[in-house]
Amino acid sequence: MPCRANDEWACGVALRVLDLFEKTFLKHDSSATEDMSNERRAYLSSLSLVNMIEAIPTMDMSDAEFESGLGEVIASNRIKSGGAKHLRQIGSIVGHLRGHVLPPLGAAAEADSSLLSPDVSTVLELGSGRGMTGLMVAGALSAHANDTRVKLFMVEKAGTRGKADTTIRRAIENSRAGKEEYARFDFGFERIRCDLAHVYLPAALELDKILSDGKEQNICVVAKHLCGAGTDLALKSLESIRSEITTSVFATCCHGLCDFDSYVGRKFLLEQGRLGRDEFELMRKWSMASAMSETQDKAVSDGKDLDKKNSTKRLDEEGEEHNQDESQYQLNDPSSIIAVVKKLGLACGCRGLGRACQRLIDQGRADYCREKLGAHTDIFHYVGDDITPQNAAIFIHGRQSDG
Ligand SMILES: C[S@@+](CC[C@H](N)C(=O)[O-])C[C@H]1O[C@@H](n2cnc3c(N)ncnc32)[C@H](O)[C@@H]1O
Repeated sequence: MPCRANDEWACGVALRVLDLFEKTFLKHDSSATEDMSNERRAYLSSLSLVNMIEAIPTMDMSDAEFESGLGEVIASNRIKSGGAKHLRQIGSIVGHLRGHVLPPLGAAAEADSSLLSPDVSTVLELGSGRGMTGLMVAGALSAHANDTRVKLFMVEKAGTRGKADTTIRRAIENSRAGKEEYARFDFGFERIRCDLAHVYLPAALELDKILSDGKEQNICVVAKHLCGAGTDLALKSLESIRSEITTSVFATCCHGLCDFDSYVGRKFLLEQGRLGRDEFELMRKWSMASAMSETQDKAVSDGKDLDKKNSTKRLDEEGEEHNQDESQYQLNDPSSIIAVVKKLGLACGCRGLGRACQRLIDQGRADYCREKLGAHTDIFHYVGDDITPQNAAIFIHGRQSDG
């Protein structure tokens, strides 16, 4: 942290964050100008946590997936999905891909039979861990794929247990002739053990072989809770295959583990908000406060000490491998989120400021995708924050041109 890490500088950064957040997502205050007036400061300080949460829509698309057999297929194939909350997140991601790379469910698909023939054959999961999201997307695709051969590629730097691989191998061994209603898992797969900083996707996906066959590739990319800088490395890795991608979903998380040098949205933050390296360092730390509980946030506003032991509990409840940097909870640091929220009297609390940081970090990524991948982007909550406080996704769609 630079020597200017004092409370005045940190409060200025917080106001700039709120200013850019308001201009980007809320656009309620038409009096916003280049120089921040006292009225504007007062307005920004009055923004509530609800304003921060409702700034982007919440669209949990998992209900229709469960109604169509997601739960049953998990049980009958003995898939270790990681628990109910993970399954809801996966279900919603699959749901968001319907009408894009997956055919819509039920009546809509029956009304238009062309929607039943998706032309996507490759699902690529980045930072896949056990590969459950890729498994379900490829599984749902495979159930409707007619003659298309579906293949799942998983890029992951660590060794993992309880993998999608087991489900797929078992399904291939049992090779059921008929189709399952909701998903089938006897498709090809490859696990690429590599850091996303070093992966060269055209080689990993053997695109040269496929392209020399004259086939156009339509790749669907998914990444769920790919921590911090992992998401930035993944987005960079897509540049080499951008014209082969149709749709991508990135459910982001652990913004506190981002680093400025890897972060792809630097241009957006700098040009739109005068937020550079030092400011980013604060934003990434502050973003972790979005995982505080209501009780912790209230205790802070009431001037009480934070129970550090419970500060990241909600993130870990289903055993995800997140690593948290807890330095933002150091009460004696004048640039800590606690000090800044108190000094400015921010109505949104630590959780609200933390959310604003998360969303701006994601918005920078979305801007990068628009510019470098030539794609359209949307940011929304794909599940409610009762499922996970890290509940935003960047949806990247449209064939991605040579940008
Ligand atoms: C929180 S886990 C999520 C795993 C899985 N996507 C899920 O939703 O269950 C994040 C995963 O991303 C992987 N990861 C993080 N950074 C990576 C990188 N630079 N290259 C490859 N994998 C990475 C980690 O090893 C870990 O398995």
